[in-house]
Amino acid sequence: MKNPIRIVTTAVQKYADTPGGLLPLLHEIQAILGRIPKDQVPLVATGMGLSRAEVHGVISFYHDFHCDQRGQSTVQVCRAEACQAMGSRQLEEHIKERLGIDYGGTTADGRFSLEPVYCLGNCACSPSIRIGDDIHARVDAQRFDKLLDEA
Ligand code: FES
Repeated sequence: MKNPIRIVTTAVQKYADTPGGLLPLLHEIQAILGRIPKDQVPLVATGMGLSRAEVHGVISFYHDFHCDQRGQSTVQVCRAEACQAMGSRQLEEHIKERLGIDYGGTTADGRFSLEPVYCLGNCACSPSIRIGDDIHARVDAQRFDKLLDEA
């Protein structure tokens, strides 16, 4: 079992003297623990010579950082203009219903988390979603169900 205090302490020691070290520090903690535990923020703040509010501010500013435990894979649905014009709103309703969660949620079995995203750089093939590291184009409800079954 991973010991969050030991992991955070080691990461803080590694980056404490690095200018701009907070971001790589947070990335490292999240890569190891799968999240940035809220109760470890004071340790990060003290070690980096920052206030807790400053550390919380950075975590909440960057969408990639999260304090809660996420699913094994993250499903991102593009909500930007091109995808909306091609039906992403209807698709997102289907995805929410199929997974049984809203944005920011994680399925009960811990397999999937759901997040909105604002452009995946795949606008010509809208609507687009990402499951894990893979971007999928021209997704409709039936295609999403198939992708989910295969995931
Ligand atoms: S608008 Fe959806 S991928 Fe760009």
